[in-house]
Amino acid sequence: MSAYVAAIDQGTTSTRCIVFDRQGQIVSLAQKEHQQIYPQPGWVEHDPDEIWRNTLEVIALARIKAGLSASDIAAIGITNQRETTVVWNRRTGKPYYNAIVWQDMRTAELVTQFAAHDELGQDRFRDKTGLPLATYFSGLKLKWLLDNVPGLREDAERGDACFGNMDTFVVWHLTGGVQNGLHLTDVTNASRTQLMNLHTLDWDDDLLRDFTVPRAMLPEIRCSSEVYGNVTSEVLPDVPIAGILGDQQAALVGQTCYEPGQAKNTYGTGCFLLMNTGTELRPSTCGLLTTVAYQFKGQPAHYALEGSVAITGALVQWLRDNLGMIKKSTDIEDLARSVEDNGGAYFVPAFSGLYAPHWRSDARGVIAGLTRFVTKAHIARAVLEATAYQTVDVVRAMEKDAGVSLRSLRVDGGMVGNALLMQFQSDMLDEPVVCPRMTETTALGAAYAAGLAVGYWKNLDDLRQNWGIARTYEPHMDEAQRARLMRGWQKAVERSFGWEE
Ligand code: G3P
Repeated sequence: MSAYVAAIDQGTTSTRCIVFDRQGQIVSLAQKEHQQIYPQPGWVEHDPDEIWRNTLEVIALARIKAGLSASDIAAIGITNQRETTVVWNRRTGKPYYNAIVWQDMRTAELVTQFAAHDELGQDRFRDKTGLPLATYFSGLKLKWLLDNVPGLREDAERGDACFGNMDTFVVWHLTGGVQNGLHLTDVTNASRTQLMNLHTLDWDDDLLRDFTVPRAMLPEIRCSSEVYGNVTSEVLPDVPIAGILGDQQAALVGQTCYEPGQAKNTYGTGCFLLMNTGTELRPSTCGLLTTVAYQFKGQPAHYALEGSVAITGALVQWLRDNLGMIKKSTDIEDLARSVEDNGGAYFVPAFSGLYAPHWRSDARGVIAGLTRFVTKAHIARAVLEATAYQTVDVVRAMEKDAGVSLRSLRVDGGMVGNALLMQFQSDMLDEPVVCPRMTETTALGAAYAAGLAVGYWKNLDDLRQNWGIARTYEPHMDEAQRARLMRGWQKAVERSFGWEE
């Protein structure tokens, strides 16, 4: 058996290749950012060809850095930004349009139209899909493309056009592309399209009719952990592709949350809190999503409740790139620490509307509570606090939906390095926040899925042994202060509603 397992993490801001050993430790890592394209306010696109080039580059670089040959890699897993929608031509490989990114809001009007159909409103498809109608999911993005890109609908009906999320696009290219590339996805990614029935785990004819999507353009839905085929591309020849998971589900797997009730929160571009609900499909009445957590080969699917927050780390980047208030993202911690509190300011980063638990596509970003006292340090603090408040809103919804209170929260992702934020998170939740030793859980989860499929790891216990705690933040804040801050946040959230033209 080869010595390592690799994972590609095709994320919102960058593509990474990470190689892991049997203990789940990083052997090599390469990363490349791609361009964020904003053609109009509220629109966000990626160039799929750039992402494919970057994928090849990071695989090659990760190999070179650790001096690995393809035979050192037992299998490769893919994880990806979910919902981001791309269509390309099966014969030429050419994308019909840029990938429409999950944060994109161009389908806001379609959401309103679809929700006006009956008294269920935004919950029209919740029973079947676990998802409310929102700009977030792939189905309406795909409908927009079919309705707006000349010739695409005809090609799709003929079977010449392929739809995929970024997992599908990357796997198709890695397995030969125009030369019989595999056109498939896994259940977790499919569960975010709003076209798959959560009960049957198959594309649903009624949904396809309502969204006017031809079945011929859809990928085959497979398990999250099985051998799909081998890489044909020279960069990793003959290595089996053996795992696919949407990135937030991958983090759940990487955090070894395999028991019902276990949950993790990933702090990246946005924040995504997932709680494993076992093989039971649990509907939400509090604004969360019901989604597939993972399905290992030969086993039933496990489901999760999810609280998705669109903008958290992205707000720090915005402060850096659009306002120039900090040079590096990590500078925000020192700036925020230079003051004692938020000075009365609250920042609601509703740049893509508000997701869970509100689902308001008419929301836009606001800074509230300003006086002349407020400095850029208070704004930096409000920016970090926004991540924590949004997580509290999601945790409280999760506790109501699941009927249990969370006794601690496992966290991961880029922002967990920010000790000020993690302490504030624990204070606002009034619960311990637990950082594992390995915080690259997204790529690790995809590697686990691939490694399990080829027998590199034997079972889930092998994986559980790799998990350990690096640091736990305990809550210190008194109840009165916590309640006062939450009241301020809630007032600010209300002011973010009603901005859609
Ligand atoms: O649902 C969107 C999510 O999958 C994006 O994750 O880490 O690429 O921002 P990330």
